[in-house]
Amino acid sequence: MLKQILRKKPIQPHAHTGLKKCLTAFDLALLGIGGAIGTGIFVLTGIAAATQSGPAVVISFIIAGIAAGFAALSYAELSSSVGGSGSAYGYSYIAFGEFTAWMMGWMLLLEYGVGAAAVANGWAGYFVNTATNLGFHMPEHLTKAPVLGGSINLPAFAIIWILTLLLMVGVKASARANNIMVIIKLSTIVTFILLSIGHINTDNWQPFTPFGWFETLDNGKNIGVLAGASLVFFAYFGFDAVSTAAEECKNPQRDLPIGLIASLLFCTIIYIIVSGTLTGVVPYTELNTSSPVAYALTKLGYHWSSTLVATGVIAGLITVLLVLLYGLTRILFAMSRDGLISPVFSEVNPDRQTPSKIILMCGIVVSIVAGFIPLGELAETVNIGTLASFIMVCIGVIRLRVTHPNLERPFKNPFNPLIPIAGVIACGGLMSFLPAETWHRFISWAIVGVVFYFVYSIHHSNLRSSS
Ligand code: ALA
Repeated sequence: MLKQILRKKPIQPHAHTGLKKCLTAFDLALLGIGGAIGTGIFVLTGIAAATQSGPAVVISFIIAGIAAGFAALSYAELSSSVGGSGSAYGYSYIAFGEFTAWMMGWMLLLEYGVGAAAVANGWAGYFVNTATNLGFHMPEHLTKAPVLGGSINLPAFAIIWILTLLLMVGVKASARANNIMVIIKLSTIVTFILLSIGHINTDNWQPFTPFGWFETLDNGKNIGVLAGASLVFFAYFGFDAVSTAAEECKNPQRDLPIGLIASLLFCTIIYIIVSGTLTGVVPYTELNTSSPVAYALTKLGYHWSSTLVATGVIAGLITVLLVLLYGLTRILFAMSRDGLISPVFSEVNPDRQTPSKIILMCGIVVSIVAGFIPLGELAETVNIGTLASFIMVCIGVIRLRVTHPNLERPFKNPFNPLIPIAGVIACGGLMSFLPAETWHRFISWAIVGVVFYFVYSIHHSNLRSSS
């Protein structure tokens, strides 16, 4: 069966880009770190600390990191054995067949598309803050989504358009450029830690869990350390972008697992230090701002450093945005190539050699979402889609061990099937801590996906037409 699917629906690990196999495990780890460190740590830490976890946001990060860790180990096993550049979408094709792969792709669209909109919101917060520090004041109603009392978040809307146009003319972040941007981002974090660690006042860590562990309020919002974990989980997604780079690796079987696990470990350590420091230097009640790291430095009297750090964040978040927007177009491209969505999405502009139409459509949709929906709601919606896709990856590991016990697995999880089962439980637990409204959005999205599949995809799929 596996051979049949591979023959009929080749994953084409190295076919469509013709890229050089030049990435090492180190580059991959930096790619994961480049895709992961962003709005989650620079913005959501503040929101989660002020409204859900209190100083125990550090525990929220650890819990979310453990769930992401189990998923990373499962990703590592599939990326080393199944391979291919389709990431979780490709693995699902092999493990479960077309319908599940379609649903996985559909979830990934939510993850990457809404994720890009959420990061654009985080970017806008730092942009507006820095512009204000430099004496350029934007009218407030142009910096907020309508439900927050504004008319549009113009900077978030605009940054998506700028990057969309860049992607259309064929500018693609190379590994080298990515490495430089990641270094800027990490320097920003190191600067923040060095400047503020000496100012930690342990009184700020009291009470440690002011909102308890978990409670649903009358307005439907969830609070507590576990609810905070389900929000800051956003900080981890993006490391899975490593698995989309399989075709550019020197030694994917060895390097992909190393890249995935190293980037996740690194991020977890950074998140613990940054969130612990942030809540140690500023009372958690003050952190519900759009640029908490810059706010903390300003409050400590480091005005110029605050602007400098904010500028680093602005640059750093652009790499996350590029990874997400590029990933979005790549997933649509793969789904269209398999016949599951219109072939228009896999047309390549012959002059620019970029899939301009998809990029343009992505730009239109993502910019509207970014301009009109606020960050918190976007992040939770992304998380539920990401957690669902991580669960599918874990189940994929379990299923392939049963259906294809002899498949070559250069990276094999020990204690089978303990780790993927732990991944399903941990990610499922985090999903259950998300608010009912997020669940409604998720279920609506899934229903639209199922309907689309049976109305369109099933009749146009290449797998079926070739059988
Ligand atoms: N994990 C990425 C971020 O936090 C998407 O911005």
